[in-house]
Amino acid sequence: MTRKWLVILTAVATLGILGCPPKPEGGGSGNTDATGGEILIGEYGSLSGSEATFGQSTHNGIMMAVDEINGAGGVNGRKLKVLTEDDQSKAEEAANAVTKLIAQNSVVAVLGEVASSNSLAAAPICQNNKVPMITPASTNPAVTEKGDYIFRMCFIDPYQGEAMANYLTKDHQPKITKAAILVDVKSDYSTGLASFFERTFVANGGRIVSKASYSKGDSDFRSQLTTIKAAAPEVIFVPGYYNDIGQIATQARDLGITVPLAGGDGWESPKLIEIGGKNLEGCFYSNHYHAEDPTPAVANFVTKYRERFGQTPDSLAALGYDAARVLADSIKRAGSTDGAKLRDAIAATKDFAGVTGNITLGPDRNPVGKKLAILEVRNGQLALKAIVDPSGNASGPAATGTTAPAASTTTAPAATATTAPAAR
Ligand code: PHE
Repeated sequence: MTRKWLVILTAVATLGILGCPPKPEGGGSGNTDATGGEILIGEYGSLSGSEATFGQSTHNGIMMAVDEINGAGGVNGRKLKVLTEDDQSKAEEAANAVTKLIAQNSVVAVLGEVASSNSLAAAPICQNNKVPMITPASTNPAVTEKGDYIFRMCFIDPYQGEAMANYLTKDHQPKITKAAILVDVKSDYSTGLASFFERTFVANGGRIVSKASYSKGDSDFRSQLTTIKAAAPEVIFVPGYYNDIGQIATQARDLGITVPLAGGDGWESPKLIEIGGKNLEGCFYSNHYHAEDPTPAVANFVTKYRERFGQTPDSLAALGYDAARVLADSIKRAGSTDGAKLRDAIAATKDFAGVTGNITLGPDRNPVGKKLAILEVRNGQLALKAIVDPSGNASGPAATGTTAPAASTTTAPAATATTAPAAR
């Protein structure tokens, strides 16, 4: 049914808009390598709107990877071509964007999104059409649970929430036992990460002294922060996106709240410190990588990215780069752009040397054994605070100063690795 609808829509769109007959170029059942032309890859992302830097950085990372691959001859003798749709940071538009990429452009696979709610809206469309989707950065567990065509390149929120809760209760000096949580109820990412954090924080003997919420788009957080202040937490955990974090930090300091804010990867943006300024000093968050990592793979990536874009790459650029390269590698191994064959090849990704660590996908289509970095705002710049290694898994290149972890272990960064990045 869906496929029939798709074929009709494709025909109408192609004939109507381009005035030429539809050509089979991968995607769903109409997939074929017969043309031997460019391989079309879809990308959907927040190139504008409230999370615009998520989409922009991811796009930069993807384009850097694709240009390198094409410069080296492409994949199986064919060049890659990326078709990009801006979903304006909105879930409905993410669904529309992916529908268009599949039905109208017949892309062989889709890269995106960053915000989990947007990936959740689009994933069922990819799944129903049997077009593989790789989200570089969506960490909510439900995303890859949408089906066997949905993959990710990043760790998931149960891991991220647990890591921060363990860090605060065990490794932070002084140890923290009283936390407040401020959550964005409109975001699947935020609600999920808040609950995973709480689970471990409480299991470790900590207490959540206040819980408050806001909705994406809010700009006044004072009443929530006033309630939180009265509960006297030692830290406020805010699993939100960078735009809101900057404003929340500013209003918290205005209200005389001096304790640090802590958060997750959603803080990551070149705009974070621009918006929050000195109000973010001493605040910290978990992330997928850090730009000062001396590992050659990271150092090379950072140098090339700075040359091309004049900016230090954030983790989204790194994950976008990894996602595009894993996809190209999978197309190569599949020897085909057929949806089912490509799906199988992506699923078989093993020990792929990514910028964000070695990528091996588990049976749930999530990478196993990825490390996590905790970054802190220090003197208006991001500094590495700690590296967290997952337990029992073979992770990527050895972390600076890390010994093999028995259980989830936090390592303080080596003194040399703490230099703050130049321009974020
Ligand atoms: N993990 C966030 C989500 O799922 C997205 C994100 C990833 C944002 C990495 C910034 C950096 O919504």
